[in-house]
Amino acid sequence: MLALHGQKVVGHVSVFRQWEKTDVAVPGWWLTGLEVIPRWRGIGVGRQLVHSVITMWEREHHEEPLYLVVNRRNTPASGLFLQYGFKELKDPEWERKLRRAYRQDRRGEWVYQILKRNPVDQ
Ligand SMILES: CC(C)(COP(=O)(O)OP(=O)(O)OC[C@H]1O[C@@H](n2cnc3c(N)ncnc32)[C@H](O)[C@@H]1OP(=O)(O)O)[C@@H](O)C(=O)NCCC(=O)NCCS
Repeated sequence: MLALHGQKVVGHVSVFRQWEKTDVAVPGWWLTGLEVIPRWRGIGVGRQLVHSVITMWEREHHEEPLYLVVNRRNTPASGLFLQYGFKELKDPEWERKLRRAYRQDRRGEWVYQILKRNPVDQ
C-alpha cells in the first residue's frame, strides 16, 4: 500500500503471508515495510497507512493474528504499533531464534522483538 502526494510516493507499508516456519518468522500474516519519507513524518501518514492496511487485511483475515518485527528502540514505530493493539510475542523459542538471527547492538543488547496483534474477538 502506498501513500501518495499527487504522483509522489511519500510512504508505504505491506502485509504478506509467511507460509513456512523460518528462523525469523512464524507462519502467518506479517506487516512489513512501513516507512514514511523523512519530511512527511509526524503528520499522520504512518498512522493512516497502518490503519488502512489493517482495515483492508481484516476484512478477509479477521480471525487471524498479525505479526511484525520492530527494533525496541524505534520509539515512533513501536508507539504506533502499540496503538493498534500489537503486543510483544513473549515466546522463548522465538526469542532464541531472533537472537541467533539478529546481531546485538553496540551495547550488547538484543534490540529486535516480534509483536503480535491478536484477532479482534480474542
Ligand atoms: C514509524 C514511521 C512510519 C511513523 O510514521 P509517521 O507518519 O511519522 O507517524 P504519524 O505522524 O502517523 O504518527 C503516528 C504515531 O506514531 C508515533 N510517533 C510518530 N513519530 C514519533 C516520534 N517522533 N516520537 C515518538 N512517537 C512517534 C506516535 O505514537 C504517533 O501517534 P500520536 O500522534 O498519537 O502521538 C516513521 O517514523 C518512519 O518511516 N520511520 C522510519 C522507518 C521505520 O522505522 N519503519 C518501521 C519499521 S518496523
